[in-house]
Amino acid sequence: MYAQMVETGVKQVKALDDMSPEERVFQEKIDAEIKIEPKNWMPDAYRKTLIRQVSQHAHSEIVGMLPEGNWVTRAPTLKRKLQLMAKIQDEAGHGLYLYSAMETLGADRDEEVEKLHSGRAKYSSIFNYPTLNWADMGAVGWLVDGAAIVNQVVLQRTSYGPYSRAMIRICKEESFHQRQGYEILLTMMRQGNDAQKAMVQDAINRLWWPALMMFGPSDADSPNSAQSMAWKIKRHTNDELRQRFIDQTVPQLEILGCSAPDPDLKWNAERGHYDFGEIQWDEFFDVIKGNGPCNRERLETRRNAISDGTWVRRAAVAHANKKKQRAAA
Ligand code: ACO
Repeated sequence: MYAQMVETGVKQVKALDDMSPEERVFQEKIDAEIKIEPKNWMPDAYRKTLIRQVSQHAHSEIVGMLPEGNWVTRAPTLKRKLQLMAKIQDEAGHGLYLYSAMETLGADRDEEVEKLHSGRAKYSSIFNYPTLNWADMGAVGWLVDGAAIVNQVVLQRTSYGPYSRAMIRICKEESFHQRQGYEILLTMMRQGNDAQKAMVQDAINRLWWPALMMFGPSDADSPNSAQSMAWKIKRHTNDELRQRFIDQTVPQLEILGCSAPDPDLKWNAERGHYDFGEIQWDEFFDVIKGNGPCNRERLETRRNAISDGTWVRRAAVAHANKKKQRAAA
């Protein structure tokens, strides 16, 4: 596998012979599928790559609460409101597991959150798109969480122990999110009126391409993939996972009775996969540079949440200190 990665040449990675003895032992451990734990020796670049990926992942979970938060007060029934609130709380929990996994690498949570708030850290491009109608709650669950699962199921086998263990729990919850999203859309398509069915198609039209972009740039333009694959932080490339997602999702789209906004989407029997059209990469790079439809609004909401919640955090610290004093008395 390691030799294979070097040959693919997406980006050259160090060959075993060029490694220091410590690096070689580390790589051999990875190749033998032994997890790396916080106290084990690891190359600086491995630690930095993980802090980058896990912090971005944690930020995505937290910012990902915002497009759905937009619909809590307008969910059509009490059952839908409860489901939505539970899902949003799950996302907060995912962010917390991931920030904790990141801290085991020596990163400081406050510093990383500050990078997010000052626009220096990335989070998933998808959360910079607006959620305009109720069907978006279904499409976010089905397409966005569906894409997240395809990426995250393989991260359960990532080489860093704390990240891998966090992903096992997260995947169980994401799977519920995906199903509740699909069920919202199925209900609207089977029991809804024409206007409601049109809302479903409109939500799919707007979120289809951004969901495909979640997997990151194509392999040829992914600077981190080759090394992350060699370290088994990533187990599949961006393009492999994108294709897997499309192959899984199109049959579900057909059951809904909807279509994708892609005239080139069709089954290719020879490849055993769906072919699909060209992704607008200019749009993707623009969004991750901070120029998507909602980037500014999302960061402003996060910054306000921190300042509005200052008194709650102070009160919690004062309460904890008082408890400690009482216990010591
Ligand atoms: N949104 C924002 N930034 C992205 C995205 C995206 N969808 N895809 C790639 N990027 C960024 C990368 O973070 C990287 O930026 P950086 O080098 O400045 O840090 C750059 O684009 C180049 O991409 P890659 O070299 O392909 O980066 P990487 O190897 O990290 O792969 C991927 C990107 C696939 C997203 C990987 O980081 C990953 O698997 N992350 C964990 C999953 C995750 O974060 N999911 C978030 C959405 S799911 C949810 O929150 C519900």
